[in-house]
Amino acid sequence: MLRVCSRLVVRPATSTRRVRTFATKAGTLGNQKRDIQVSTVVGLEDIKPAMPNVDVGKQSGGSTYCPYDQTSKQYDQTRKPLGLNVFLGSYALAPWPVHSQSLLDVGCGTGTFLETMQGKFGSLSGLEYSDGMIAQAKARLGPDVNLVQGSADNLPFEDASFHAISINQVVHHFPPDNNFAFLARTFKEAARVLMPGGIFVINTSTPEQQRDAFWWVELFDHSEAVICSRFPPLDVVLEHLGGAGFQVNDDSVCVPLHRSLMASDKYLEKGIACGLEKNYQDGDSSWAMAEKFGEIPQVMQKINDMVAQGKDSHYLLRKEQQRKSMGQATFVTAIKQ
Ligand SMILES: C[S@@+](CC[C@H](N)C(=O)[O-])C[C@H]1O[C@@H](n2cnc3c(N)ncnc32)[C@H](O)[C@@H]1O
Repeated sequence: MLRVCSRLVVRPATSTRRVRTFATKAGTLGNQKRDIQVSTVVGLEDIKPAMPNVDVGKQSGGSTYCPYDQTSKQYDQTRKPLGLNVFLGSYALAPWPVHSQSLLDVGCGTGTFLETMQGKFGSLSGLEYSDGMIAQAKARLGPDVNLVQGSADNLPFEDASFHAISINQVVHHFPPDNNFAFLARTFKEAARVLMPGGIFVINTSTPEQQRDAFWWVELFDHSEAVICSRFPPLDVVLEHLGGAGFQVNDDSVCVPLHRSLMASDKYLEKGIACGLEKNYQDGDSSWAMAEKFGEIPQVMQKINDMVAQGKDSHYLLRKEQQRKSMGQATFVTAIKQ
């Protein structure tokens, strides 16, 4: 049954177990070349949470594997916004001074990115799906920031109501099926609510970055392929941006090589032993996927073994070389035509 209320469409629960299909994509890293299995596994019933309490605009979307309502309290202990130079430089390309622009952060989480933007824009808004995350954002940002609960693919805003939009490390939570159709819808929504000439900055990771540049993902024997398959390849991001009416050019793609997605002082604070701590695991959703696959105990065993055998430094040296050669995040700056 389809219930339609204004622009809001409530869909029936999708089938709980779908067939796994795999495609093979070549992933290249410097002189390294490996095959990545890109899986379109979605909707596994054991990773699909019950639909949270329904609020206006909150019926679709949200993460199907990361329990942000629970992890929201720990999230800020390890994370720190990155690429602020990329965001601010990108918004300065628009025809309006940055201080007069209205900025919407889609999937704003606990509001740390918006906090760094306070005082720099004419107005700030955040859109967030999770109850726990938006509660943290409200407490952090206070009444001057307009925070709205809803889903990225159905933005509860008027056409052409923002000068600037950001989306930080959110798109891998979207269902990847049908060539990332949810992402395509989200980009169309961003184009709709953005003024012509407005700038949209996407901060995401490529499947290759996710696989190779985060030291722990290599230890995830069973969940690695599924985790990576949630991240849209860069060519898909660019294709869907074009399809939504955004312009991208050779300057649009930017990869910071040295900053980790986590706060620099937390990422390797205790070497790989960090991965034994729940608070650390709560700082990156890939651990939640590994947990859904029941492989956290084996991962912890591997970490303990490496430390006990004195092999952790060598492992980390290799992983740090990889991280600093490819970066953990990719930024795309798109212009609404
Ligand atoms: C990795 S966190 C990033 C949070 C924040 N952008 C940051 O960089 O700290 C992903 C966020 O996306 C939110 N999210 C996932 N799917 C969403 C959707 N369809 N619409 C809005 N937010 C969504 C999650 O609830 C979570 O807060």
